Amino acid sequence: MHMHKFEKIWLTFGIGCLVVFLTVVGVSAFYLGNKPASCLTTINPEKVDTTKPFDKPGLHKVEGKEWDYELVFVASAFSYNPAKVEVPLGAKVKVIATTKDVVHGFEMAGTNINMMLEPGYVSEYTTTFDKAGEFLVVCNEYCGTGHHLMFSKIEVVK
Ligand code: CUA
Repeated sequence: MHMHKFEKIWLTFGIGCLVVFLTVVGVSAFYLGNKPASCLTTINPEKVDTTKPFDKPGLHKVEGKEWDYELVFVASAFSYNPAKVEVPLGAKVKVIATTKDVVHGFEMAGTNINMMLEPGYVSEYTTTFDKAGEFLVVCNEYCGTGHHLMFSKIEVVK
């Protein structure tokens, strides 16, 4: 097949650009083991029950930190521990969550809390609970047959 000289140059240029582009995207995305900001801490998913703070799920008052409470959640197919928890209105809370098995979601309906829980990683989100009421926590990652049964309740009380 006969190819025009310019055609060859442009073809080479095009492929070259593609290679450079993919390299830049690939290298920068995973450079230094980058992960989404909410998943920087790692954990052994088989030892969640004996690893702090997941050995004591629920709400805990803390001292000397930028937040007043830590709200610890352990997700597993197909539930959250705790299944229901009360939080005082106006409290600055660091939500700390992980999963014991597969990927689960952690979406607090009606708020901007929406995390992905990955086995081996700890997801965290600090927020102030300034709206009273009952909030449903739902799993928004398909995790198996009981996915739609997976929920918890956060009650923000005065
Ligand atoms: Cu857990 Cu879907």
